[in-house]
Amino acid sequence: MKITLIAEGSTKKDREALRWGISFLVGNVLLDTFGRADIFEENVCRYKIDLSRVRHVVISHEDWDHIAGLENLLRERPKMKVFLCKKTGPVLKKIVRDSGGSLTLVDSPRRIAPGVFSLGQMRANTGRGILYEQAVVAKSREGFSVITGCAHPGIVRIVKRAIKIFGKNISAVCGGFHMKDNTADQNREIIRQLHALGVKRVIPLHCTGAPAFRLFKRVFKNNCLRLKRGGTLKL
Ligand SMILES: [Fe+2]
Ligand SMILES: [Fe+2]
Repeated sequence: MKITLIAEGSTKKDREALRWGISFLVGNVLLDTFGRADIFEENVCRYKIDLSRVRHVVISHEDWDHIAGLENLLRERPKMKVFLCKKTGPVLKKIVRDSGGSLTLVDSPRRIAPGVFSLGQMRANTGRGILYEQAVVAKSREGFSVITGCAHPGIVRIVKRAIKIFGKNISAVCGGFHMKDNTADQNREIIRQLHALGVKRVIPLHCTGAPAFRLFKRVFKNNCLRLKRGGTLKL
């Protein structure tokens, strides 16, 4: 299974310029659409991302930095199937319907496309309110990989859920892990738990934060990978 990072914001500077968020192509499934539509579209051209075979879009959660490119995309390519958490608010649901997307609401874990699954909606208390997020699981030769938008429900909780559903063999965890506001001790504990759960490779991006990335590197060493915008990983 090939994963391409279409767009990503991860630094304080990125955030200040609203170049924030994330977007992946997982096989032929699009996961999230970044926080700025213009940059999302620019990167699709720059990195020669082939969206012609994309029929399925998963939006991890409705934060602005994951949905900006969605409306234009649906207007240009109508009838795409868009998978939103069932408890997403009415505004985003309306955007999908009004732009010609075919809306599917996700509650429990389900298949999205061949080899690509949603873990189902998970509740998160973000401190600025309750939100619901779904992570994606991709099947590959090595096992199953978990790909997250922001991981607001907690990356350990998400991986535990993936193990419960898909079995012990979680080979890689990739995406925003939302560790940027944690203390070093909290991050050390998260990393210890991921390692103990048998996760083999980590690709921390977006809201994981640089300090947490350095701690991941210490524990996972060469199995903690960087992924650049436009870069592709084979999982
Ligand atoms: Fe985010
Ligand atoms: Fe978020």
